[in-house]
Amino acid sequence: MTASKKFKKVYIGLSADLIHQGHINIIAEGCKLGKVIIGLLTDEAIASYKRLPLIAFDERKLIVENLKGVEEVVAQTTLDYVPNLKKIKPDYVVHGDDWKTGVQREVRQRVIDTLAKWGGELVEPKYTEGISSTDLITAVKAQGITPGKRMKTLRRLIDAKPIVRILEAHNGLTGLIVEKTSIDKDGKKMEFDGIWESSLTDSTAKGKPDTELVDFSSRFSTIEEILEVTTKPIIVDGDTGGRIEHFKFRVKTLERLGVSAIIIEDKIGDKRNSLFGTTVPQEQDSIEHFSKKIYEGKRSQVTEDFMIIARVESLILKKGTADALKRAEAYITAGADGIMIHSKEKDGQEIIEFCEKFQKFETKVPLVVVPSTYAHMSESELQDLGINVVIYANHLLRSAYPAMVDVAQSILENSRAKEASDKYCMSIKDIITLVPEVN
Ligand code: SPV
Ligand code: MG
Repeated sequence: MTASKKFKKVYIGLSADLIHQGHINIIAEGCKLGKVIIGLLTDEAIASYKRLPLIAFDERKLIVENLKGVEEVVAQTTLDYVPNLKKIKPDYVVHGDDWKTGVQREVRQRVIDTLAKWGGELVEPKYTEGISSTDLITAVKAQGITPGKRMKTLRRLIDAKPIVRILEAHNGLTGLIVEKTSIDKDGKKMEFDGIWESSLTDSTAKGKPDTELVDFSSRFSTIEEILEVTTKPIIVDGDTGGRIEHFKFRVKTLERLGVSAIIIEDKIGDKRNSLFGTTVPQEQDSIEHFSKKIYEGKRSQVTEDFMIIARVESLILKKGTADALKRAEAYITAGADGIMIHSKEKDGQEIIEFCEKFQKFETKVPLVVVPSTYAHMSESELQDLGINVVIYANHLLRSAYPAMVDVAQSILENSRAKEASDKYCMSIKDIITLVPEVN
């Protein structure tokens, strides 16, 4: 490096989830121009436009700091480079020429405009052909995921995303839908962050009522089925959690499987689905007993990562917001890692009231909602209320069932399958290749 280059600052923004020769090339190009400062995108910045990185920020930082030619690593907390550029005022930004189109196009333009303010320059070496982080990540995902890594992901998502989006699954196939469905919206990749293993849909799919009749041995087998074909974190609907002594074992089993969280509701005795509200007899547990269940569950945990989330049923049982808040506070004191507040009102008003008061708590934990009845509320409205996790709890089963009944009726009406096949069914070719023989 010549004397003049020694004082030039070169900024390179990287996610560096899986390091490959493309990254090394860019850093080498940067070194030719001056001292290389890496702006390492935080988990939050990456999650704002695509899936959470496989490797967490601190670990990525350690790796990048030790790459040859890297002088310094700073956090880049947004996809937008501008805040860091203004602070550092680099002479150069180096980036592969692959960002001229797609989601990064505007980001690139803002880099050019900002650098122009102090005569900085954007240098764009040719993109390294034949290697892409996305392909590497797909290959890694095809290998599956370890239970420990999957379990941790829920906490990482809650930290990194304004709101975590969860969809129900009740078997392997619906698990695959949650795992794989994605769309491009406004240049961002939108997908579900994780899976809700619902007592309602697991029971209904087995033709059984949602009354804890489907016991945990059976629920575990559904959970295994979903775990086997997915990599995203799973939140299990633990119903009432059962007897305290049994709950302690259940927590350990779920941890071993790599489930991220269990949500237990503060009801006791014969459990009925919450959406019945007060039209059927349902009894709420005492604060003391339910708090003990949470406390004992937390004590029996083996890992730091597993979450026990307490579900407050006061609004379902028409006990009012004050009761709900009192219980939420007590459950947090008992050790709950999160609170789920449930409601079956259509207008969402009681949820809004609860959330506003919840935000004033001294000790706060992540807040979870299930907007099945107040479905008009959008994720951004929920996020503005301080809600951290939204669960779409039953929609895959609720949509599949009417379609299946239509098909059954059509076959009866026409005494043949042609009409149903043409109108409602995917092609035979599509169904036999839907789940590949090798992945
Ligand atoms: C479930 O999905 O089973 C739930 C949510 O517990 S609810 O059905 O609304 O009670
Ligand atoms: Mg349930």
